[in-house]
Amino acid sequence: MGHVLAVVSQKGGVGKTTTSVNLAAAFARRGLKTLVVDVDPQGAVRYGVGLKRGHPPHGFSDYLNGARGLREVILPTALPWLRVMLAGTVSDAADHGTYHALVAETDLLKELLTAARERCDVVIVDTPPGLGPIVHKVLEASQHVIVPLQCEPLALQTTPQILRGIQGPDASLADYCYAVTKLLDFSKIVRRQQNRHRRILLRERADHLAHARSGEWIE
Ligand SMILES: Nc1ncnc2c1ncn2[C@@H]1O[C@H](COP(=O)(O)OP(=O)(O)OP(=O)(O)O)[C@@H](O)[C@H]1O
Ligand SMILES: [Mg+2]
Repeated sequence: MGHVLAVVSQKGGVGKTTTSVNLAAAFARRGLKTLVVDVDPQGAVRYGVGLKRGHPPHGFSDYLNGARGLREVILPTALPWLRVMLAGTVSDAADHGTYHALVAETDLLKELLTAARERCDVVIVDTPPGLGPIVHKVLEASQHVIVPLQCEPLALQTTPQILRGIQGPDASLADYCYAVTKLLDFSKIVRRQQNRHRRILLRERADHLAHARSGEWIE
């Protein structure tokens, strides 16, 4: 039985897709049967996963609405052990409402990830930002979670939100503690970064004042 690893964050643009794609490629290069699943309707996985030119556009959303079968939405990549399921044609639609409703109201996502786990060593799921119904469905079917975090104070302050979401009503995720440990490590990095920035700013200000006093400042 393989492992489902969800990449989630309450914030957007923090590196979820980049982490998903690179981690999947790293696992596949080590010979593990790896599937990366894009459930974010933005569909950004398609740009970085090494698909062959002219690949079909369909993916998870097309499986979800019954337009395509499972075999049609699992695509090969340049790496022999890496397969991908794109978000599909929802990425080109102007409205994602039906997609969100289908994910929220059915158990298809959970069934899909459970079935994928039986056939793969690792299933990596790239999710949309936030803690909406799609992310909750993914978390229900995952054994591991990674929360990419930027080294800045606000990211750290909003992190308890995602930890509460990961913990969920039954705190069933085995790797919850792992996420917390990583975040504590990050807090040290943030503090170090802040001190470094403070030192740079003080030096710049001193240089600036010295320059201004010398009269060269006003031309
Ligand atoms: N470790 C990193 N260091 C520096 N830049 C990064 C890193 N990871 C990702 N980026 C850059 O940050 C930007 C956002 O990355 P990405 O699209 O992976 O974030 P995301 O969390 O998936 O965004 P969204 O919430 O919109 O899905 C991209 O331009 C990407 O190249
Ligand atoms: Mg993304």
